[in-house]
Amino acid sequence: MSNKTIQIKQDHAHEHEGERACMSRRSFLLAGASLVSLAAVGAVPATAFAAPVHVLKKEYTKVKIGTVSGLQKGKPIEFAYPYPDVQNILVKLGTEAGGGVGPAHDIVAFNQQCTHMGGPMQGTYKDAYQALGPCPLHLTTFDLTRHGMVISGHATEALPQIVLEVQGNDIYAVGVMGLIYGYAANTAKRG
Ligand code: FES
Repeated sequence: MSNKTIQIKQDHAHEHEGERACMSRRSFLLAGASLVSLAAVGAVPATAFAAPVHVLKKEYTKVKIGTVSGLQKGKPIEFAYPYPDVQNILVKLGTEAGGGVGPAHDIVAFNQQCTHMGGPMQGTYKDAYQALGPCPLHLTTFDLTRHGMVISGHATEALPQIVLEVQGNDIYAVGVMGLIYGYAANTAKRG
């Protein structure tokens, strides 16, 4: 076999390796798309996405922020935590959520400042989609059933989630998952 023939066989081998690589990647993308589609129609629970999330988590002083019986589905209440100027919402989504507390694991709390450039998202909760947004600055929307992950828009980071605990009928904030916009480490005041 000539050197040229050997070279051509090697080139073909690389082409096929390339095809396999492309197919694998395509299959991976299709599988991912299928999973997202299934989630969109409710065939995959939100918690299937929630488990592998790894985020910065910091504990703060435990503060009572509401009661289970005092919440109505889809009607958020605002509270400040862990600092007086950090505004958040506490909301009963009506569907099980990552980090959700209460009997149905559907009570969550999130910071209301957009992670893109700090846009204020007060009053933008959409009960039909369990989403916060769109942000008034560049339209990012966040999924509150999946740890505040970005649904669409410019932001790349999920909304900071307030870590909750329930004792009896009382709901407490005990920490923050994720970096609050404008803070270096959620441990110091804005500089
Ligand atoms: S500040 Fe919210 S999308 Fe840019």
